[in-house]
Amino acid sequence: MNKIRGVIFDLDGVIVSTDEYHFQAWNKLAETEGIPFDRGDNERLRGVSRMESLEIILEKATRGYSEEEKLVMATRKNEIYRESLKNLTPSDILPGVMDVLEGFRSRDVKMAIGSSSKNAQPILAAVGLDDAFEVVVDGTHIERSKPDPQVFSMAGEQLGLSPGECLVVEDADAGVDAGLAAGMPVLAVGAATGHSGATIKASDLTAITLDEMLNPACS
Ligand code: BG6
Ligand code: MG
Repeated sequence: MNKIRGVIFDLDGVIVSTDEYHFQAWNKLAETEGIPFDRGDNERLRGVSRMESLEIILEKATRGYSEEEKLVMATRKNEIYRESLKNLTPSDILPGVMDVLEGFRSRDVKMAIGSSSKNAQPILAAVGLDDAFEVVVDGTHIERSKPDPQVFSMAGEQLGLSPGECLVVEDADAGVDAGLAAGMPVLAVGAATGHSGATIKASDLTAITLDEMLNPACS
């Protein structure tokens, strides 16, 4: 029998290529402010909340920013990001995702989203996946962002499963840490494959079988 009965997917960078749009929006903001920012810096923003991402970017700023200025900057970034989301279509769904979702559905594996983003619902709607997940826990529901386990613990509870019955799928080091802290095995994809603690790894969802995901300890 399969050990895993539910899969909790991160959204940005796992289901949809919106991780790139986050980078572009932060890059534009940093440029306007004259703050150095590159793809290496961007790796640290994966999985963490908008305000925490801004704090990381401001580590390289040459002056201090008031709380009010920070709020204005975070709002501006979100406006730039939301503008790019207008172009989102099902073609932004990442490779292998549709087959994996279909495969789990046919095997009665429960599925959830566990995301730090406050934009998760409109993104799911824009790519046509608003009915694909039984449970969606996102940045509008949590107090503490990844690497805190809250988002995954809540999703697991709402699926009615114990932590050991859930597999987390993540592209962020902070998300891998969050899943492990929730007591769940974690499949690291993309940028997170460098994380030494991940239970299993795959470059993307085309590079792993459903059986490997459902029996992570045996692979
Ligand atoms: C995560 C992204 O999914 O959501 C982070 O990996 C982002 O980069 C975070 O900062 C919050 O997103 P939003 O859409 O609420 O600004
Ligand atoms: Mg992600």
